[in-house]
Amino acid sequence: MKLIEYRSYFRTALKPFHSIEESDDFLKRLLKFYFDWEPIKIGLEPNYILKKKEEDQLNNALRGLIQQEPLQYITGRTYFLNIELEVNKSVLIPRPETEELVQWVLESESHEKDKSILDIGTGSGCIPISLKQGVPNWRVSAMDVSQKALDVAIKNAKINTVSIEFYLEDILSKELWGSGLDVIVSNPPYVVPSEKEEMQSNVLDYEPELALFVPEDNPLLFYDKIIQFAETNLNENGVLYFEINPIFVEELTSLLKQSFESIEVRNDFLSRPRMIRASKSKIKT
Ligand SMILES: C[S@@+](CC[C@H](N)C(=O)[O-])C[C@H]1O[C@@H](n2cnc3c(N)ncnc32)[C@H](O)[C@@H]1O
Repeated sequence: MKLIEYRSYFRTALKPFHSIEESDDFLKRLLKFYFDWEPIKIGLEPNYILKKKEEDQLNNALRGLIQQEPLQYITGRTYFLNIELEVNKSVLIPRPETEELVQWVLESESHEKDKSILDIGTGSGCIPISLKQGVPNWRVSAMDVSQKALDVAIKNAKINTVSIEFYLEDILSKELWGSGLDVIVSNPPYVVPSEKEEMQSNVLDYEPELALFVPEDNPLLFYDKIIQFAETNLNENGVLYFEINPIFVEELTSLLKQSFESIEVRNDFLSRPRMIRASKSKIKT
């Protein structure tokens, strides 16, 4: 089949789920990923005849997309800030709001090169890897309860040539960290089951439940536990950064007020309150 014909075939197959623009974007990304072809290839060589092997590869990916599998799991790759990461179904696909959380940490903390940082619930390792790349002198550690997630994170640290200490730990039963921490950052599970109705099947059917959900009757389970952990393990001027579910921002702010200072909520690029920062002692502004 000619490349231009394949594009029409691809668009038609995805029509029930995606706009033409989205389909074209998927196809361009697949052409780049599988064959290293630039997006302009379809315009420059519309009559290029796809080899059987090329068509088979594209058709495999198309089958996944029709079943609502995220493109990132199909290719096994994603991008986070300026790093490339491997992903599979054991880890959450990193989101843009998490990039904003990392940027907030970097812009607020990178003036000091000697810091000890812990990421709780690291998944693909997107947070600690980009922090370590931002400030190579920081001592960065990360934990996750899932060995399969840690395997991905360890591989990603290697690919991105950064040195991070990874630990298989359950934060819900962890009390003490070996040494004092200057920054704790976490994007913990925070979706309640009643939100499932509004969620798309590419998330519900493919992304790990362990990374997403908390009990309906205890939505702040992880925040509560991480706050207690931070009280014990953060240094005197230590700072805690969370990604948050906008529907629980007020509850979480009240919880933090009981033991933390200088609480600040930040909106993401869609103007939703998605990040919160709290400090053990007042932050001087
Ligand atoms: C929302 S995902 C965040 C992943 C990654 N940090 C990111 O931002 O893309 C939450 C992560 O917490 C981990 N997790 C779930 N329960 C945990 C627990 N009890 N202790 C430690 N990590 C846990 C999950 O395996 C998952 O990787």
